[in-house]
Amino acid sequence: MPDTMNKSKAALADRHAQCNLTDTELDKIINLIYQRAGIVITRQRRDMVYNRLAPRLRSLGIDSFRRYLTLLESTPNHDEWQLFINALTTNLTSFFREAYHFPILAEHARSSRSGGYNVWCTAASTGEEPYSLAMTLDEVLGSNFTGPRILATDIDTHVLTKAKTGTYRLNDINNLTQEQKKKYFLRKVTADGQQQVKVRDILQRDVHFQQLNLIAEKWEIPAPFDAIFCRNVMIYFDKVNQKRLLNRFAKLLKPGGLLFVGHSEHFNNMDSPFRLQGQSVYYLAKDKV
Ligand SMILES: C[S@@+](CC[C@H](N)C(=O)[O-])C[C@H]1O[C@@H](n2cnc3c(N)ncnc32)[C@H](O)[C@@H]1O
Repeated sequence: MPDTMNKSKAALADRHAQCNLTDTELDKIINLIYQRAGIVITRQRRDMVYNRLAPRLRSLGIDSFRRYLTLLESTPNHDEWQLFINALTTNLTSFFREAYHFPILAEHARSSRSGGYNVWCTAASTGEEPYSLAMTLDEVLGSNFTGPRILATDIDTHVLTKAKTGTYRLNDINNLTQEQKKKYFLRKVTADGQQQVKVRDILQRDVHFQQLNLIAEKWEIPAPFDAIFCRNVMIYFDKVNQKRLLNRFAKLLKPGGLLFVGHSEHFNNMDSPFRLQGQSVYYLAKDKV
């Protein structure tokens, strides 16, 4: 079938599906993503929900949200659940995002006496954040041969697959120093002429990627950690899950450990075991250690 016909068919299916995204179905989707991932989506994000899920309906050959929801709800272990979650997560990230955190981490690692400094990157997305952490630790502590220092987790299997390849567009590493580009990345050109970079082995072996849902009852992870990065994800959660997470993180940090959160995430007023050190970095309150 010619591509234009495919596209107009898809557009038709989209319009059809959109017609059928009733308030009840939207509320159900909002409820299901909250139950499965803790992500809070309001009714105002109707277009986003539609745009993210319409391709799922299309690829399943389903022509209504009602049928899509029936498929999900009738089979709690259906593979589509993961794709439903992947579609509704927001994965925006970049290398050395909120750059002021990295010198703080470097100083913490430099002065650490714990031996075997390790970090948990809890919402690793496509990998830019954990690889930035690995570069920072390599610069301060040197190469590591005893096993990955960074545990990088995310709920979204699609981004983790990309993260594991360690392949990015050349432009994605624009804000790195020449030294970092040379030491940690290999340049390559794809068959269709795109300039890409690939994370070198020295960095890749320092990051262990694993799927993990932050709101799951149990986490199978090698705690404790010297630092936990939980940046730009708790912003999608409600206060109940945020508070629960902070309490769980507190139990997984070594004495003197640090929690790094995104610049728009504030937990100082919340009754939590953490105190603000500054610049969205938290330490454990003395009476909680
Ligand atoms: C906006 S990105 C932030 C990425 C990175 N931390 C940063 O600051 O650049 C949010 C990430 O949180 C992940 N996420 C959302 N809900 C989650 C959950 N319940 N458990 C684990 N990860 C989750 C998403 O899949 C997404 O990759």
